[in-house]
This record gives sequence, structure tokens and C-alpha cells, in this order.
Amino acid sequence: MAKGHKDKVAVITGGSLGIGQAFAKRLAEDGVHIAIADIAPGAGTVKMVEAAGRQALACKCDVTSPDSITAMAADVQKTFGRCDILVNCAGIYPQRAFDDMTFEEWRRVLSINLDSCFLAAKQFVPGMKQRGWGRIVNMASSTLGSVVTGFVHYMSSKAGIVGFTRAMASELGPHGITVNAISPGLTRSPGTLARKPRAGMADMEAEFNFAATMQAIKRVEVPEDLVGTVSYLTSDDAAFITGQTLNVDGGRVRS
Ligand SMILES: NC(=O)c1ccc[n+]([C@@H]2O[C@H](COP(=O)([O-])OP(=O)(O)OC[C@H]3O[C@@H](n4cnc5c(N)ncnc54)[C@H](O)[C@@H]3O)[C@@H](O)[C@H]2O)c1
Repeated sequence: MAKGHKDKVAVITGGSLGIGQAFAKRLAEDGVHIAIADIAPGAGTVKMVEAAGRQALACKCDVTSPDSITAMAADVQKTFGRCDILVNCAGIYPQRAFDDMTFEEWRRVLSINLDSCFLAAKQFVPGMKQRGWGRIVNMASSTLGSVVTGFVHYMSSKAGIVGFTRAMASELGPHGITVNAISPGLTRSPGTLARKPRAGMADMEAEFNFAATMQAIKRVEVPEDLVGTVSYLTSDDAAFITGQTLNVDGGRVRS
């Protein structure tokens, strides 16, 4: 169990599948009760959390909607009375060349990936401040440090998350709240498995294997590679780390 985790409450957006689900499982094993806020059903994650002996709540929530986020926060308050840890993991990464990208597609990616972090923080930061303890973890991406195409909206949203993380850390540090981001490399998840492979790649497995050749650690990244970092960053051991974006990508991006 990580230091300071016992009986804390975490809200994980995008916790029904993929990296968010792996985060929920690990934090539950650390002793944290878990609420997931996801547009997709969360029964699978609820089972994992309960198997770890923790309480779980699945809130159907569209993170693009302020009303939906407000309703989710009210559910969390009613069930747990608090949120100590906010993990902003909901995200999408559709690929589209800039020439073909519409303003609606740009806004949708910015809304799901970045606006949601602001809206969720608005709900939970006041309680964290009152208690003088809080942890916020956001998701950046190694694409920010790579040459990739089709991601003008996605990379802009992730650069926004890095800025949001730094700015929030400055404001919330005096209140015992840390704000950090994790930057994964290309990770095998339901979202990436459903993606169309890049030109020249036979399928997504080929793209995963190609990405692995660009890493110092030459194997495909999986969600479990990221869970130790979220556990650490949300623990008491990481109380003096804030405003950081940590690359967890097998050594692909070095900064
Ligand atoms: N997988 C990767 O290669 C990779 C790399 C870098 C960063 N990331 C980031 O990690 C996060 C998780 O990625 P993943 O690969 O696990 O994705 P995924 O598609 O497997 O899972 C994303 C989850 O977000 C939820 N979601 C999507 N839109 C939503 C909405 N409007 N409201 C509420 N929930 C919504 C989905 O239902 C799903 O449960 C994202 O922020 C992504 O940008 C992923």
C-alpha cells in the first residue's frame, strides 16, 4: 500500500477502459475507494475495485458537459462525501490531417481532453483545499516530443494539459495539493487497438512494434507500465513533487 492512500477517494475520468481502468485497479489495490466518470459503462472496473476490497461507484458522465460533470460530482459527494485524488484520464485521439480537420473536430478533441480537466478540477478542488490535501494527475502524451502527423488538435490539447498542470500546481501548492501529469508513449489499449494504423503499417500491432523500436526499452507499452507512476504521484511520498510532466514511455522522449 502506498503511503497516505488508505481510505482516500479517487475520481478517475475515463476509468471504464484502458489506462484509466488500470489506474482504478492499482489505486484500489493501494487502499483507495474509486469513482469512475465515463461515458462507457463501468461494470468491469467496478468488479476490479470490489475484488480489491474497496468501494466503487460508476458514474455515467460525459466529460464534455458541465452539467454531466456537476451531476457526477454530486453522486461522488453523496456516496463518499469527498474526493481526495482526481485523475483526468478521459481522452480521444482521432487522426486527421490539418487540411481536412474541421473546427468541430478540433473543438471536440479540446473539449474531451482539456476542458474536462478544468471542469472536473472546478468540482473537486474546493474540498481538497478545505482538507489541505489533494492530488491531481493529468494525462499528457509522448507525441508532444515526437514527429507525428494528424494530431494538430490532439497535440494542442496535450500541450494545454502540460500548461494547465504547471499553472494549477502554482495556485494549489500552498493548499497541500499537488498537480502532475504523466506522459505515456504509444500504449496498447482499447482506444489505440481500435485506431486505423498509420500509412505503411499493416495493422496496429505493427505500429506498436515499430514504436517499441524507438524506445530505449524495446517492448510494447501496456497500461500496467503506467500504474506505478499514478500510485506514487498520488501518495504522500510524492508530496514535494508538483507541476511536473513525467515521461513514462520506455525512454522514447528524454527531457
Ligand atoms: N494509449 C496511448 O497510446 C496513449 C498515449 C499517450 C496518452 N494517452 C492518454 O491516456 C488517456 C487514456 O487513453 P487510453 O488509450 O486508455 O484510451 P481508451 O480509448 O482506451 O480509453 C479512454 C476512456 O475515456 C472514455 N471517454 C472518451 N470520451 C469520453 C467522454 N466524452 N466522457 C467521458 N469519458 C470519455 C472512454 O469511454 C474510455 O473509457 C487519454 O487521455 C490519452 O490521450 C494514451
